[in-house]
Amino acid sequence: MCGIVGYIGKQQAAPILLDGLAKLEYRGYDSAGVCVYGENGFEVAKVKGRLAGLNEMIDGGAAMRGSLGIGHTRWATHGAPSQRNSHPHISTNGKISVVHNGIIENYLILKEYLLAHGKSFVSDTDTEVAANLLEYYYELEGDLLAAARRAVEKLAGSYALGILCADCPNTLLAVKKDSPLIVGFGHEENFIASDVPAILRYTREVVYLNDGDMVLFRDGEAEFYNKLGEEVEKIPEHISWEMSAAEKGGFPHFMLKEIFEQPKALRATISDRVKGGRVDLGDVHLSPEYLRGIRRIYIVACGSAYYVGCVGKYILEKTCRIPVEPILASEFRYSEPVLGDDTLVIIISQSGETADTLAALREANELGAHTLAIVNVVGSAISKAAHDVIYTWAGPEIAVATTKAYSTQLSVLYLLALYIGDLLGTLSVEEYEAMLHALNKLPDLLADMLTEDYLAHIKQLAAELKDNHDVFFIGRNLDSATCLEGSLKLKEIAYVHSEAYAAGELKHGPISLIEDKTLVVAVAGVPELFEKTMSNVKEVKARGAEVLGLTTADLEDEIKKTVDRYLLVPKTHPLLQPSLNVVPLQIFSYYMALARGCDVDKPRNLAKSVTVE
Ligand code: AGP
Repeated sequence: MCGIVGYIGKQQAAPILLDGLAKLEYRGYDSAGVCVYGENGFEVAKVKGRLAGLNEMIDGGAAMRGSLGIGHTRWATHGAPSQRNSHPHISTNGKISVVHNGIIENYLILKEYLLAHGKSFVSDTDTEVAANLLEYYYELEGDLLAAARRAVEKLAGSYALGILCADCPNTLLAVKKDSPLIVGFGHEENFIASDVPAILRYTREVVYLNDGDMVLFRDGEAEFYNKLGEEVEKIPEHISWEMSAAEKGGFPHFMLKEIFEQPKALRATISDRVKGGRVDLGDVHLSPEYLRGIRRIYIVACGSAYYVGCVGKYILEKTCRIPVEPILASEFRYSEPVLGDDTLVIIISQSGETADTLAALREANELGAHTLAIVNVVGSAISKAAHDVIYTWAGPEIAVATTKAYSTQLSVLYLLALYIGDLLGTLSVEEYEAMLHALNKLPDLLADMLTEDYLAHIKQLAAELKDNHDVFFIGRNLDSATCLEGSLKLKEIAYVHSEAYAAGELKHGPISLIEDKTLVVAVAGVPELFEKTMSNVKEVKARGAEVLGLTTADLEDEIKKTVDRYLLVPKTHPLLQPSLNVVPLQIFSYYMALARGCDVDKPRNLAKSVTVE
């Protein structure tokens, strides 16, 4: 969840490192630090808190001279956010400087060993163990590469490490396992980083390292080694997307920008996969023979991606008539799942590096299931580990709260539902055509919703409701799944306690929490269940709740008879309605967060990608 960056070249390193870290801050923002190899060896600066503090401390980088360096932005795992626990960490005798993303699981055993062999520690981190272990082997071997090889043999867990050695002024070493790391090639300069945006201003030629790979930059040359220690050649890939995709582009927050990017992201995800009036998923390995043998589909993911799976259950079961079980990746891993070659496991992840999701995917592979990943980040660990991958073309998503990734993931499930339903013959021609027609129209319908008036209305509602501390989201069927996402959005960015309940379930317990003025958001987008949901609304209103309703425009006259306030969305195909229903909930959370003075893009305690269990 941390971000690391490294530079070796002819320019001043510190401003480049700071610039890179600014693009990686979404990965963690508890503390930040840089180490530059200057005339007098290592110079280190680190601060607790946001990168802005580090920027100020070193005058935008001008205060540190040297053209070799590493930087880090942290999401605390081992040890509280503090300057002492910030990276880079320097080894006992000052030989090694390290930045790290990941978790060294056996750090306590290693620490004990290193303490017994004369090493000392100033932080509570697992990373300082890596720095000292590298120094320990460097002192034995007298060579950085050899030391790194011996050190990684001892490390258990996940790591992307950027390493400097005080004896090697023209050398930058990096190694990775289960944490992302890319290498960038510029003109007389090279980079390492956790993610592409960190270096995109300087180069578009990148290599995605594989697990166990090492890269050694020395004296202007790059040497790559695989996990067996063999020197290998790497062909750089060209990054074609623009830097503007990872910038705010005039919007006050990434989240709002990304809400507005949804129509474009949906178009990009859908249009290439519809050819001649049919869904075409390219070389995905789902033959009719294979599909006919499937007994069950698991959808495995975390957070919002899991909530996409909860919507997906209704869609896939209805269209394909196969039992579908959405399951949290963190639970799937340890539940001894019953699966084999008659199970399709769909993995959903924006980042493609979520630790639990990746581990669940590996488990499913080992148990013999066919795995299909729906991923946004190209070249990510999950995209590489799955048997099949369908990319969501959402572009970089920077805000911690997902919006466009959620929407595009859902659109891929629609494509899959059509594709599988067609191959299995469980969708009639009319149903297939109606759904595909609606899917093609979805981006435009969504774009039409995002008017100034629509946003102003939701902003006004948020201003009126911002002081509610407890919120219940209720809905039935597809709407109950949408409620899960609406509720998560409100929690994560507006810090409002909220619960999502299937509307019919409320009276089995949670209705006891409804008091005078408790806010209930009632999503009523499934036409045949509208009246049932309104009955549940009446039940909570009878107990004093204030109700914000959400339904399709055609039911405006109906909903206003029952609720206190309401939001409308355009009507689409019933199975696609969740794609539109979620949008006002995203916007509502956004304005609630603003009204409550929260940091929308960087909510407290969170990070964009969760690479720890
Ligand atoms: C949603 O807004 C979250 N920030 C979070 O729940 C996220 O969806 C989850 O951590 C999964 O991430 P992934 O899609 O990158 O795997």
